[in-house]
Amino acid sequence: MKLNIAIDGPSASGKSTIAKRLAKRLDYIHIDTGAMYRGCALKAKSLGYTVENEEEISDMLKHTEFAFDPQGHLLLDGVDVTEEIRKKDMDILTSSISALPKVRCELVRRQQAMAKSKGFILDGRDIGTVVLDDAEIKIFQTASTLSRAERRFIENQEKKRSGSFDEILDDLKQRDYQDTHRAHSPLRKADDAIEIDTSSMTIEEVVEMVEAIVKEKMKEKEGDRK
Ligand code: DC
Repeated sequence: MKLNIAIDGPSASGKSTIAKRLAKRLDYIHIDTGAMYRGCALKAKSLGYTVENEEEISDMLKHTEFAFDPQGHLLLDGVDVTEEIRKKDMDILTSSISALPKVRCELVRRQQAMAKSKGFILDGRDIGTVVLDDAEIKIFQTASTLSRAERRFIENQEKKRSGSFDEILDDLKQRDYQDTHRAHSPLRKADDAIEIDTSSMTIEEVVEMVEAIVKEKMKEKEGDRK
């Protein structure tokens, strides 16, 4: 028996890392919806569009293919864009473009079509509230702004990406503000989501906690079926 799992939370709270590991342990499929918004922003930028071009970006999306390879890399129109979408200049641009209602409408439609059966873990900002509002498990994963900035700084150093700690911190604050204050499906905890503050937890501890929640829910569901 498989369920659907929604993981939402602010930037750099470690959602994708947790979702990826959990998917491996449970043999579920992980969809990183943030990567899809990043892919949309990357293609829009390459065509010279800005956040003012909602109509053009919406048309562009109609002819854009999103897929994930077995390693979880985003294939945008068949091309692996994993590195490009993580570049620093994509962060704020993606946050701005993701606020456009027509972009959200199309990407939500695609995500719902991808996860129409069970056994999916989606991570993002509006999964528990919009995309999979009927998911059996909803997690709202948070961490303090400072610990998120520290994690992102260490990750950037490991991957040889640029950016000082202060730049990363400012960028995170701006994205938090934009993602929680936009008019359409802003980041918020679904009423039935379980909040986990990961500020002082290791990745393994978070994975184990969520796995225990999933197992408990499965037992409950199996009990209901008997
Ligand atoms: O998770 P991320 O940092 O890769 O997401 C990039 C941006 O995309 C983020 O600023 C907010 C937006 N996003 C969104 O609006 N809805 C989602 N489901 C996922 C991401």
